[in-house]
Amino acid sequence: MKKKLLSMILATTMIASVLVGCGGSSDSAETAAPAEEAATEEAAPAEEAATEEAAPAAEANGTKVGVSMPTKDLQRWNQDGANMQAELEAAGYEVDLQYASNDVQTQVSQIENMISGGADVLVIAAIEGSSLGEALDMAKAANIPVIAYDRLLMNSDAVSYYATFDNYMVGTKQGEYIVEALDLENADGPFNMEITAGDPGDNNAGYFYNGAMDVLNPYIEAGKLVVVSGQVSFDEVATPTWATETAQSRAENILSSNYADGTQIDVWLCSNDSTALGVENALAANYNGEYPVITGQDCDIENVKNMLAGKQSMSIFKDTRTLASQVVKMVGQILSGETVDVNDTETYDNGTGVIPSYLCEPVFADVNNYKELLIDSGYYTEGDLQ
Ligand code: BGC
Repeated sequence: MKKKLLSMILATTMIASVLVGCGGSSDSAETAAPAEEAATEEAAPAEEAATEEAAPAAEANGTKVGVSMPTKDLQRWNQDGANMQAELEAAGYEVDLQYASNDVQTQVSQIENMISGGADVLVIAAIEGSSLGEALDMAKAANIPVIAYDRLLMNSDAVSYYATFDNYMVGTKQGEYIVEALDLENADGPFNMEITAGDPGDNNAGYFYNGAMDVLNPYIEAGKLVVVSGQVSFDEVATPTWATETAQSRAENILSSNYADGTQIDVWLCSNDSTALGVENALAANYNGEYPVITGQDCDIENVKNMLAGKQSMSIFKDTRTLASQVVKMVGQILSGETVDVNDTETYDNGTGVIPSYLCEPVFADVNNYKELLIDSGYYTEGDLQ
């Protein structure tokens, strides 16, 4: 019965108030509502929203939230899962948290088990955005709201909301960093560059790549940046499952085919930290020239260590605590029939229409600000980075 009530609430309250950034201000607020519902409502006052707690425990009592995470192999998902579990439990929910070992069929069965186990809401970070159709159909048939977590769930009308970081902005920040680091506005170059992008099955990967390439393409066209391997298109530079080993072996091939004669490599655009780590491993074993500028994303511990050792230039900090809080708040709003905070109703079309989204703001990180971002904020201890 809870589910029926939920679906009614959901149907009548897919109304969005607009905030900027996670807990940010609403000065550029636009009224936002899912295209179909077209309901409009004033943006919630930013302060109130920023200080608002997750769902009150009373509403959460007896309510079960299924949290499906892709893998324990990459550091960030362990943090996402742990943060989600802690925050949901603190708000009084029962939590069924599962990791799927990057195996799509395992993720499908885990979600199906969550549904049959009585989940009232599902929060899903997909391994492959388009491969959960069956399980999502089952959720829809059971009137269980689904929140796509970090990665958009594609081609399914079972998805109620999406919460993530601004993925395109992650890419533009990486691109802008490269422009500044090489002083591309003033320097003639040419600078030699290589590119390593993410998993084609992850909708985010294209946003990261496009965000960075939209910044860098003018410099490639002007001949200031030269991709020596000639591998530029997303398909050529993608890394299935974001695996470090795959990024490493591709980087080894690129280095032996194009740089073995001592050619200098000036910059390696990497979409995230797991792929940057592969590139860094390949460089350590196969390259003696001056170390290139290398980008990353996630501030994984190994990569922050490499940043401190001068082997990675920057990363993007996506505080998983912020995303978890936002999602817990979303869960509470969905369950209580309140207006659900979103701040983007245009960008993320999953093939069945635009999914109302909440985009948190990614933050640039390097050796100069890591202490404040990562240590002072309690994300890591100094010991974690030794
Ligand atoms: C996430 C990134 C992460 C990557 C690999 C993406 O969907 O947004 O933060 O680096 O997956 O796990």
